[in-house]
Amino acid sequence: MVAGADSRLYLIFLGAPGAGKGTQTAMLSQALGIPRISSGDLFRENIKNQTPLGRQAKAYIDRGELVPDAVTVGMVIHRIAEDDCVRGALFDGFPRTIPQAEALEAALAEQGKTLGAVVDLVVDHEILLERLSGRWMCRGCGASYHLAFHPPKTEGKCDTCSAELYQREDDRADTIEHRLLVYYRQTAPLQNFYRQRGLLYQVNGEQAIEAVQEAVLRVLGVSQPAEYAGFG
Ligand code: AP5
Ligand code: MG
Repeated sequence: MVAGADSRLYLIFLGAPGAGKGTQTAMLSQALGIPRISSGDLFRENIKNQTPLGRQAKAYIDRGELVPDAVTVGMVIHRIAEDDCVRGALFDGFPRTIPQAEALEAALAEQGKTLGAVVDLVVDHEILLERLSGRWMCRGCGASYHLAFHPPKTEGKCDTCSAELYQREDDRADTIEHRLLVYYRQTAPLQNFYRQRGLLYQVNGEQAIEAVQEAVLRVLGVSQPAEYAGFG
């Protein structure tokens, strides 16, 4: 069991664009009853609402670049301090640079919270390209679908909230390639950062969605559904 003695569960999901971070954290959030904090979703929400932060982030996201640390860190740290994160949180797509990881470590310590584990979803480059080019997202709840691998029950509609599905602007072929390059250069070094701290758990993300979820639960030591109750 990776949770601390107080059963609070702060977990990071690492992995390249398309590795399945959103898919897995959405399922786990439901199973464990703790919120998912996706920096990408927070940016998209700000862009939709045309906030100053959204306007600042949009140019970077459209180019497949990382949004500067100064903007990203403040947004996420603010989110962790909210009441629903008191028993844990699943970080999806944050941190993505060493300075972000250091800032998260400091903020959790300041709030008396501890990082339980870092789950790294490992997926081959060619498979990532295939996943991102066939992905459709929900406008309402942000759920991820795939035309071939995870189709919605009704075409163009979200299974959970029935909102419309759309393709992300940064899922264009040239931007996908650039996002992957940025990941290998700027985010992959976090594997060693967390390995050195004894927190890194690598999971084969190329298996079917349910098999990945089972593997994640196994490394976290929460494979028995009855144990979910302890986190709810
Ligand atoms: P973000 O939204 O985080 O995008 P990303 O990291 O590029 O990751 P994705 O959302 O593309 O992939 P995912 O791993 O969530 O995969 P998914 O589950 O959807 O960030 C977007 C942008 O925001 C960044 O480029 C950057 O500009 C900015 N940003 C965000 N965070 C930042 C930060 N911390 N610092 C700076 N900038 C930041 O799955 C992909 C597809 O595959 C789906 O279609 C899904 O249905 C399918 N699939 C999933 N699992 C499986 C499986 N096991 N088998 C078959 N298909 C599967
Ligand atoms: Mg995602």
